[in-house]
Amino acid sequence: MARKKASKAAFVLREAREGDLPVLVKFLAKLALHVSGAPPQNLKKNEHNRLLDVLRSSLGDDNKLLTVAENPDAGIIGMGYIYVWHSQGIWEQAEALVYRSGIIDDVWVEPEFRNLGIFRALLQELVRFAESHNVHELILEYAESNKEAKAAWAKLGFKTTGIRAAAFTSTVKEALASQQL
Ligand SMILES: CC(C)(COP(=O)(O)OP(=O)(O)OC[C@H]1O[C@@H](n2cnc3c(N)ncnc32)[C@H](O)[C@@H]1OP(=O)(O)O)[C@@H](O)C(=O)NCCC(=O)NCCS
Repeated sequence: MARKKASKAAFVLREAREGDLPVLVKFLAKLALHVSGAPPQNLKKNEHNRLLDVLRSSLGDDNKLLTVAENPDAGIIGMGYIYVWHSQGIWEQAEALVYRSGIIDDVWVEPEFRNLGIFRALLQELVRFAESHNVHELILEYAESNKEAKAAWAKLGFKTTGIRAAAFTSTVKEALASQQL
């Protein structure tokens, strides 16, 4: 467990426990709303339970780390998640290597505790975990509209390696129709 002190907030980083999961599901819901820009709303019970199961599956799994930042007064104020993804080389001519990537997901810091270095501290834990699992590459996704995520990841050396594009089916249909000879 790492102990950190920031100028305005004291916090401790530790692995998540079963009792933290309901708060972490709330963070996931806030993250989804943040990314979509939708107004505050509640998760359906089924989705709430599904997310609880997903998070629970990471507890005690050696290939996954769910880490939280805890403030003595406010409780859990941030989370970060990484799992190791194993892939086999696909080329006959290449050596039979297993590649290990670290997939980072679900990073959230409560708004009133932002800009205190909590994200950096969480990332240090994820990187420590990645190194201990011989992971040499970290991969993540964020929405193009998520400016703070873009800024924070770029400062840590992440570069865009792909683009996920979306369009309404009707838009594509119209474009195809208008481009027909
Ligand atoms: C992105 C987020 C995790 C950053 O958390 P944080 O604890 O405030 O970040 P830190 O204080 O550790 O700052 C880390 C670095 O990112 C930069 N940063 C953080 N928020 C920023 C913002 N809104 N705009 C520009 N840079 C920002 C900081 O300047 C800092 O760099 P520095 O040390 O060189 O000054 C937090 O804003 C958040 O939870 N956002 C909503 C959820 C989200 O977008 N998660 C990522 C989705 S993939």
